Formats: sequence, structure tokens, C-alpha cells
Amino acid sequence: PGATVRRRMINPDHIERAVELLRRGGVVALPTETVYGLAANAEDELAVRRVFAIKGRPATHPLIVHIPGVEHLSSWAREVPETALRLASAFWPGPLTLVLPRTPRATDAVTGGQDTVALRVPNHPMALAVLQKLGGGLAAPSANRFGRVSPTTAEHVARDLGSDVDFVLDGGPCTVGVESTIVDLSSEEPAILRPGGLAAEEVERVLGRPVPVRTTSKVRVSGSLASHYAPRAGVVLAEPREALARVQELRGQGLRVGVLGPASLSLPTDVPRFDVPEDPAGAARVLYARLREADAQGHDVLVACLPAASGLGIAVRDRLARAAAPRE
Ligand code: TXA
Ligand code: MG
Repeated sequence: PGATVRRRMINPDHIERAVELLRRGGVVALPTETVYGLAANAEDELAVRRVFAIKGRPATHPLIVHIPGVEHLSSWAREVPETALRLASAFWPGPLTLVLPRTPRATDAVTGGQDTVALRVPNHPMALAVLQKLGGGLAAPSANRFGRVSPTTAEHVARDLGSDVDFVLDGGPCTVGVESTIVDLSSEEPAILRPGGLAAEEVERVLGRPVPVRTTSKVRVSGSLASHYAPRAGVVLAEPREALARVQELRGQGLRVGVLGPASLSLPTDVPRFDVPEDPAGAARVLYARLREADAQGHDVLVACLPAASGLGIAVRDRLARAAAPRE
């Protein structure tokens, strides 16, 4: 992380324009290393409400507040345990969100009325430039309509949200590709509320203890709804060794089938493959873009090969399972 060279130059006029809009209550889509966010000044209640409206997201689902650096933690969180400082210094800026007891700066509009706030420092030069210039916090969920696949390019955002947003900052494709890992540090036992772009093993290494995944919390976490990150086509999960059999079975039912899987997987030549590498970090990086590409071709069903269940493979399997879950 962080080693990727970004060839795209930052245009200071674009940063300036984004900051101006945000100061005036605007809503701006901006790149992070995980996915594109739909950002509003976290202290502007009307702007935050507009984010919920654009997304079509229930107002009780809390948002992550993005901050410029670890030194801002204590203005948003009234208790900053040593575990938070350890994780922040190890992984910020990066794909890690910490849930901590809030200060009044984190309003009900952002937290859904809870006594905790989710905080992260994103690792993208444009997001950091905007945050530093603004000097405050940005409430930013992923810049997609509620329940749909998250955007990992500016084009995805423009296609999904069109003129509903005031400005889209184009920072190129996201380097991590799945949302941040959310760690709850607001109670005795640290827990992972959402597996994401930082491997659980990394969190455990720094904390020196096992950190359980607890996705069924009392808090409404949208990413934890059974059906989420869903393309239009149906999604069927398969371990790589059973993928070919599933494809043949579904084709036998007269369905138009596409496959999300590694190049090493042999398939009949007339079955379209959307290349999702075997290595989990590579799979995470391209997952959402491939889901979109596959979906644009109008397949009835996508057979998705599951990566190994370790590292970022946990997050990829989690998102694929939600994409495959029954829709309402
Ligand atoms: O990588 C990311 O985290 C991206 C980029 C844009 O930073 N953002 C993102 O936001 O995924 P969103 O809103 O799509 O997901 C935020 C998650 C939600 O599931 C929300 O419920 C949870 O964070 N969350 C926010 N505040 C919380 C809190 N106080 N306690 C527990 N969960 C919280
Ligand atoms: Mg989201």
C-alpha cells in the first residue's frame, strides 16, 4: 500500500473547486484507495441529508467520517484508547475505519443518533488534499445507489449518480478496490464489523490478539445487509474446482452464463470470462469493475469463483456472498 505510483497529476483547481463546493454545502464524489466516496462536510446537516437522499439510503444507517490525519481523532472521538492509536499509526492513511465513542462534533445526522462515530484517514492524494484544505471531516459513504455495486472509477460514479452530484473528482481506478475494514473499539472487546481492504490478520498482528468478526451488531450497517453490492444478473458462487460443472448445469437450463474467475480456469470458448485474478488482493482490486462489466452484457447469471479465505480473500468472499444473496 502507498507504493503505487500515481501518474495522474493532481489539478489544484479541481481540489480548490471541490473544497469550495463542500464549504458551501455541496456534495462531491471523490476517490479513495478503497472505493469512490460521496462526500459532504460532516458538520453540515443539510449537506449530509443530501448524501442520504442521493444514495437512497435509510437515514438511520451511519456514515464514516473521513479526517485529514490521526491528530484530528480526539476532536471527533472522546475516548481514544491505546489500541486506536496503535492501529492508526500502523495503517493510516489506509483502508481501516475505527468506531469510537463520539464527541458532539459527530452529529446525529452522521451517526444515526448513536453514541459512536466511525473514523478513517483515506490513502489517496486527492482525498487527502481536499481534507487538508478543508481542515474538517467529510461524511462519505460509497458513491453508489443504496444496495448496488460500489464505484471504483470516476466513470462508475458518473454513470450511477449523473448530475445528482455537484462535482466528481477523477483520481483514477481505486488501488484497493473494496471498502475499508471496520474495527469497533468502542467496547471492551475489539471486533471487526466489516471485513475489507485491510486484512484481519494485520489488525490482529498489531493488536497482538485475535479480533473476532461480529457483523451482526445492534447498529445498522448497510454493508452487512444480506443482499448488497448486487449486480442485476443473478450471482452463483463456486469454488474454482466446481465452477465448470456449475456453468454447464446453468447453461443446460438455457441461461446466458458469464464467469468471474481467473485466467487459469478452463471454460468452453463461448462462455465469456471476466478475469478476476486468483490472488486475493488482485481480486479485490478488480472485483467491482468486473461485476459491472459482466452485468452490462446482460447475462442471466454470473458464476463467481471464490478466492482463498485468507487476507483480502475474506472481504472478496463477503462481497460476493452478498451479491449472491436473495434480493427483496
Ligand atoms: O472504504 C470505505 O469505507 C468507503 C470509502 C468511501 O471510504 N466508505 C464506505 O462507506 O464504505 P459506507 O457508508 O458505504 O459504509 C460505511 C459503513 C456502513 O456500513 C455503516 O453502517 C458503518 O460504516 N458505520 C458507520 N458508523 C458506524 C458506527 N458508529 N458504528 C458502526 N458502524 C458504523
Ligand atoms: Mg457502501
